[in-house]
Amino acid sequence: MILILFGPPGAGKGTQGALIVKACGVPKISTGEIFRDLAAEGSPLGLKAKRYWTQGKLVPDEIVVGLIRERIHSSDCKNGFVLDGFPRTVRQAETLNLLLSESGRHVDGVLSFAVDHEELLRRLIGRRTCNNCGAAYHVTSLPPGQENVCDHCGHALEHRADDNPEAIKVRLAEYDAKTAPVLTYYSERGLLTTVDANADPSTIFSRVGEVLGRVGCVQEPVNAVG
Ligand code: AP5
Repeated sequence: MILILFGPPGAGKGTQGALIVKACGVPKISTGEIFRDLAAEGSPLGLKAKRYWTQGKLVPDEIVVGLIRERIHSSDCKNGFVLDGFPRTVRQAETLNLLLSESGRHVDGVLSFAVDHEELLRRLIGRRTCNNCGAAYHVTSLPPGQENVCDHCGHALEHRADDNPEAIKVRLAEYDAKTAPVLTYYSERGLLTTVDANADPSTIFSRVGEVLGRVGCVQEPVNAVG
C-alpha cells in the first residue's frame, strides 16, 4: 500500500499517520520530521532546509525530492509506506509518480484531512512535541500526564520552531498557493478521499478505516487513544 496523507498544517496528518502505521504495519515517511532530524544532527542539507521551514516557507523541490528518492527505495518500504507531508507541490507529485514507476509501483490512495481554519490555529499554537521520540501532544486536547514531560520517554516537551503566529501565517499561505493544487491533481486521477477532520482523533480514525481497506491495508484492531 502506498498512501498519501494530505492536509494543511495542523490537520492531523502526523496524529492519524501514527495510528495508521500501528494498524497497517508499514513505515511513515514524514518530510517535516526528516528535515527536523537532519537540522538537529547539524547536517549541511538539514541546516540549509532549516532556513526555509523555520520561516514557514516550503523547502525547494530539489532538496525534498533527493531525500524522498533515497527513502522510498529503502528495504523497509518494499511492502508499502505512508507519506506525511509529501508531495506538497504538483511538481513533487509528478516526480513521485516517476520514482514509483521505476520500481513498478503507484500511489494507491490520497487521504485529505479537512479542518476549519480556527481549529488549525488552535491545534498548532497548542502543540508540544518530544524531540527525543517524536510523540506529539496538545496542551488542552492531548496533554501529557505530567506537564511538559513526554509520557513515552520522559524527555522535556518543546514548542516547534515553526509553531509561532508569524511562521503559521506563512505556512497556511504556502499551503493555499502551492500545495492545495495537488488535491486537483489527485482528484482528476480518482485517488482522492476527503475526510471531515473536525473531530477527535478516534472518530477521525474510524472514518479513515474504509479507505485503509481500499488501499491494501490489512488492519489489526487499534485503540486510537492508547
Ligand atoms: P511538517 O512537519 O510536515 O508540518 P505541517 O505540514 O505544517 O504539518 P504539521 O506537522 O504542523 O501538522 P499535522 O497535520 O501533522 O498535525 P498533527 O497531527 O501534528 O512540515 C514542516 C515544514 O517542513 C513545512 O512547513 C515545510 O517548510 C517543510 N516541508 C515538509 N515537507 C515538505 C515538502 N514536501 N516540500 C517542501 N517543504 C516541506 O496535529 C497538530 C496538533 O493538533 C497536535 O498538537 C495534535 O495533538 C493536535 N491534534 C491532532 N489531531 C487532533 C484532533 N483530531 N483533535 C484535536 N487536536 C488534534
